[in-house]
Amino acid sequence: MVFTPRLAQYEMHEREFIMTAKHFVAISKAVYDYAGIVLSDAKKDMVYSRVSRCIRRTSSEGFDDYLAIALEPNSNEFIHFVNAITTNLTSFYREKHHFDFLEQNILPTLVEDLQRKRLRVWSAGCSTGEEPYTIAMTLKDQIPSYWDTKILATDLDTNVLATGREGAYGVGRVEGLAKHIISDYFDTPQEKGDGRVRVKQALRDMVFFKRLNLLRQWPMKGPFDVIFCRNVVIYFDKPTQKVLFDRFADMLAPDGHLFIGHSESMYKLTDRFESLGNTVYRKIR
Ligand SMILES: C[S@@+](CC[C@H](N)C(=O)[O-])C[C@H]1O[C@@H](n2cnc3c(N)ncnc32)[C@H](O)[C@@H]1O
Repeated sequence: MVFTPRLAQYEMHEREFIMTAKHFVAISKAVYDYAGIVLSDAKKDMVYSRVSRCIRRTSSEGFDDYLAIALEPNSNEFIHFVNAITTNLTSFYREKHHFDFLEQNILPTLVEDLQRKRLRVWSAGCSTGEEPYTIAMTLKDQIPSYWDTKILATDLDTNVLATGREGAYGVGRVEGLAKHIISDYFDTPQEKGDGRVRVKQALRDMVFFKRLNLLRQWPMKGPFDVIFCRNVVIYFDKPTQKVLFDRFADMLAPDGHLFIGHSESMYKLTDRFESLGNTVYRKIR
């Protein structure tokens, strides 16, 4: 038997393209400067495979060739490059306790206010739409139909926004959801006609998808009653997170709530919120 060291095996497996340290630094810098996303060395393989897909799609010759096109000023390719780098993992009712909190603790108080006729929720970093549609499902039966209720869903990635706007998902995406949720809130594959289930029109009408880079200017005035920004700041460094949390506080109504992801924290970053536990925060007046 011939002994082959693991390193030698790795080197024998030739890659289709060569990504040098210089390429990786250029990619990381561009992505950080534009979107605040930190690409540590641990992300090298991920970056290689995602940018390789862009190289093939554009029939470029390799990293040098592709990056010259993608990173030049005013490049039309830059947006596709950014789309390729973002991580869009999401699901319906992800971190369900947030939707339970919204339903049981926030909405009843808002509905008690007889003067109120308006509700604004923002899903910041909404990915393919499962998060804002789950918000819509949570609001649908609790908020009076005559209220002016809107859910703003924003993301940097134009591909995920297109999926969100269409609101149609492979059946696998709704597997595991309660039967009544599927029957109440989705058109069946038969109705959709292409094997996918589509979020019902009444819910789609509540959600407005817009492209927005969280690091740039925000055109909306607010105030929002609730902001979901979950599993987004995990890609940012602490200084960027601090700026963002303070901007969310500015955008929230007094006593407005902010939900962040399970592995994210505001600890030592801002004193504009009080923690209600379980990554639920309330703005301090
Ligand atoms: C992992 S997904 C989270 C989706 C959803 N919030 C959830 O928790 O299921 C993170 C999303 O943040 C978006 N994102 C990353 N950087 C962004 C930025 N600078 N501005 C806006 N969106 C950004 C990505 O495109 C991606 O869709």
